[in-house]
Amino acid sequence: MSDQRKKSVKAFKRAQKVIPGGVNSPARAFSAVEMDPIFIEKGEGAYLYDIDGNQYLDYVNSWGPMILGYNPPQVIKKLKKQLKKGTSFGAPTEIETEIAELIVDFYQAVDKVRMVNSGTEATMSAIRLARGYTGRDKIIKLEGCYHGHGDSLLVDAGSGVATLGIKGSPGVTENTAKETIVVPYNDQQAVEKVFKEYGFEIAGIILEPITGNMGVIAPEPGYLEFLREITRKNGALLIFDEVMTGFRLARGGAQELYEIEPDLSTFGKIIGGGMPVGAYAGREEIMDYVAPAGPVYQAGTLSGNPMAMQAGLATLKELKNKKVYSKLEKKAEKLEKGFKKNIEELEFPAYFNRVGSMFTLFFTEQEVKNYQDVKNCDLDLFAAYFKEMIEQGIYLPPSQFEANFISAALSEADLEKTITANYQALKKLKAEL
Ligand SMILES: Cc1ncc(COP(=O)(O)O)c(C=O)c1O
Repeated sequence: MSDQRKKSVKAFKRAQKVIPGGVNSPARAFSAVEMDPIFIEKGEGAYLYDIDGNQYLDYVNSWGPMILGYNPPQVIKKLKKQLKKGTSFGAPTEIETEIAELIVDFYQAVDKVRMVNSGTEATMSAIRLARGYTGRDKIIKLEGCYHGHGDSLLVDAGSGVATLGIKGSPGVTENTAKETIVVPYNDQQAVEKVFKEYGFEIAGIILEPITGNMGVIAPEPGYLEFLREITRKNGALLIFDEVMTGFRLARGGAQELYEIEPDLSTFGKIIGGGMPVGAYAGREEIMDYVAPAGPVYQAGTLSGNPMAMQAGLATLKELKNKKVYSKLEKKAEKLEKGFKKNIEELEFPAYFNRVGSMFTLFFTEQEVKNYQDVKNCDLDLFAAYFKEMIEQGIYLPPSQFEANFISAALSEADLEKTITANYQALKKLKAEL
């Protein structure tokens, strides 16, 4: 199909002249799979269409937000209505309160919500709040978790940072990086050691409770409970970054699934229904430290933007119906069964991880429990697999260090097509191993 992507190749050349690396976010570049990125014309339901007219079944979902698929009518209707009223006012609207009420309703640990414009802003602000509230400077971050590109959180990060093999980033000062202590995911002893050494200097721990940005990895039994306990004991805040998992794995995110109440939560992606958005939220006494209620300053010209709020609210209203999640689970189960059968039948060296509608096929035979395990995967084999899938019209995240997303728009036939494509791709690769 590659010669059928001539327009994308040309578009990328043009973009590279005026946009660094030709993309506005590194994860969009196909560098890890040694291809040019595919330029998109439109999305429809479970499908993406590129500018050459090729159709792809999509498992990227715009990196998570499009849980209902592309252009769900309920969302489009609200956006059209808002468009006529105005796209930004820089003044309060009732819809901001309505979406905050819904989030408070879905999340037991949340009394108040502050809207921002991206997941990055949400985690940056949550960290500032944790520091301001506790009067402490140090943050514990888990290796391979990605929380956006805020300075404090770019140390040993996952997603695009891991894909490019970068440890930190030039431009982040040593002093800033020094305040971030990185420990491996799923390692209780490492966290205990840090608390022993720094104790009351720790403002909080931030983590993806189920990771997506080094591929999908679930917490081991007792791990989140342990983090809850040790933070409480040491007066540090537990921050769940649910930018990816929030409203995706359950209405109440990973914290509902694991029945853990963090002190602060960060959101993004789904709560904007495909529009730029982020939010941080938590208990009243902590959130009331945020300006103008409290001293921790954080602001935004476009925060709570009415278009983003309409798209988010319409999406969250659809997710009020818990059946959406049981249907997603059925689809995900079917895909998991199909992939695992393929792996078994072909005796292929691969390992499948899934939680709800997020999954990753790791190119290793070992169990994948942390960042190091992902780094040990066969990245060349992943790249070859990615290309085989693209050739069969299946659009996957172009990196081993990412989660795949299942949307409500995928049909039984779509899933069967994907399982068959997976079989064909693995069979071809197996013959070359
Ligand atoms: C868990 C998590 N936190 C934060 C972010 C940053 O969000 P944004 O890209 O909207 O800045 C992401 C983005 O992928 C994410 O997955």
